[in-house]
Amino acid sequence: MPLVFFTSHNKQILVPEGMLLLKAARQAGIFIESPCNREGTCGKCKVLLHQGYLAGVHHDRGGHTLTAADEQAGYVLSCQVSVHGDVRVEVPETRQPMLMIVADGKCRIVELDPLIKKKFDPRSATTTVTAEGHLMETDIGDTTANLYGVAVDIGTTTLVVALIDLNTGETLGSDAALNPQALHAQDVLSRIKLGSADEGLTLLHKELLQELNRMIGVLAASAKINRSTIYEAILCGNTTMLTLAAGISPSALGKFPYRVEMTTASAVSSTTLGLQIAEHGQVWFPPVASAYVGADITAGIMASDLLRLKGVTLFVDIGTNGEMVLAENGKITATSTAAGPAFEGMNISSGMRAVAGAIEKVSLSNGAVAIHTISGTRPLGLCGSGLLDAVAELAREAIIDRNGRYVKPGSELFAMWQGNLEVEQGRTSFRLAENVILTQQDIRQVQLAKAAVRAGIDMMLLTCLLNPEDVDRVFIAGSFGAHLQVSSLITLGLLPESFTDRVEFVGNTSQSGAAAFLLNREIRSDAASMVAGMTVLELSREPEFEKIFIKALAFPQLAKHQKVDLYGV
Ligand code: FES
Repeated sequence: MPLVFFTSHNKQILVPEGMLLLKAARQAGIFIESPCNREGTCGKCKVLLHQGYLAGVHHDRGGHTLTAADEQAGYVLSCQVSVHGDVRVEVPETRQPMLMIVADGKCRIVELDPLIKKKFDPRSATTTVTAEGHLMETDIGDTTANLYGVAVDIGTTTLVVALIDLNTGETLGSDAALNPQALHAQDVLSRIKLGSADEGLTLLHKELLQELNRMIGVLAASAKINRSTIYEAILCGNTTMLTLAAGISPSALGKFPYRVEMTTASAVSSTTLGLQIAEHGQVWFPPVASAYVGADITAGIMASDLLRLKGVTLFVDIGTNGEMVLAENGKITATSTAAGPAFEGMNISSGMRAVAGAIEKVSLSNGAVAIHTISGTRPLGLCGSGLLDAVAELAREAIIDRNGRYVKPGSELFAMWQGNLEVEQGRTSFRLAENVILTQQDIRQVQLAKAAVRAGIDMMLLTCLLNPEDVDRVFIAGSFGAHLQVSSLITLGLLPESFTDRVEFVGNTSQSGAAAFLLNREIRSDAASMVAGMTVLELSREPEFEKIFIKALAFPQLAKHQKVDLYGV
């Protein structure tokens, strides 16, 4: 068996001959990004083979994106080579993400009235545990003080679990981790593809449950409680994540008419599902509106109190799938739009997730570039917010035009930025840092993503016969929102200009909504009625959508936008 030694981690592993190097890394417990799902097109899984070890691997599947210089230096795509002899491998820093996970979100004030209740009977000296009046178990003695639940957000990339005392409503602790499913399939569509086969479904379900059980165990131990006193778990997330968590094939979610096959707004036995809480505990799945407007949005609507807010509120969760909700005096319209992975720093030449070393803020002024990285460390790439900042600044400085094209060599502006603008084989790119560039293709990806979100917003407003000026407040949810600058969103045209002073970042409302469901049973029934009465707009069926989308591709006329100088440049 060949020996693979990961020098960057000081870890070694014996693997069967022919195993993919990427898989060997995973078996050694080393996470390497693979956003194109081993197609060999994204180049994010590249690793360095120590000199003389190239003979130990075979290039199996051809075509990849490495530059000649990378190849010469000894880089290979770990998803494209298999191990046939001993190798020494170095995993570059950017391939080992430590994600910044947003665990908290805005939440309305919730009255404590959980579904699960305990009652001590002094006559029999026993405590009964009930769920909405149904007996779950009977304990010997008075155990009323020990009544707990967990609120779980299953994100496509990350997991957040909060342990909550159902007697007091207090959060005793929360834990965040990567969703282990992302190692096998990065985005929702590839997760659906993998989970549609029996073997893939078993793998995705098992690994998710294992990780959730581990996290619950950690939280219970640090709160010094017995996990058998956790009687309920609320699992929130998009429809695909919930379907996989329930152990149901997601295949119907991936093809027309995009049917939801799992039962939501209902509970299943924790033991049947394999969640290690109380033996007679239950797992509740919140209601979902459609295949692409999931429980994370239901939770977001309830946590942000959209049903009770007066006036017009727009709620946007910007991610690979831009989900948005328009609430007009309690009337709810929702839609989702395929923004693609650019906002997560994927499909971008220097893109990376929001981890230490990612550029999260950019400012351009008088031929100088100022950048700010997460953790203040050496710049390694651009995360979603840095990417949007960078493109907004390029547009504001007119280094790119209305259509996103770089200025031409020979122009005055080109001369002003000649230290950063580079032309190679007729293609222009802008250098932000030593190893961080923005290509014309990257700008195009941002245009497509921002146009998808903006067109979704415009289409919803049009359907509801509203103008952007009619919107009283805008809530931006999700981890992406945490690092964003409103000024960049406006400059890019991702949001209309009239939203400038109306935006509030509300964080992880999928998580805070799950906690609200756990703490108050009435919110669950309100959510079920809300989803039943909600209008879901299918953008692809709207004849106007294409026209609106094409219009949204352009960058708005920017001269009137004031420079927001955040970094003293
Ligand atoms: S995962 Fe290897 S190139 Fe994308």
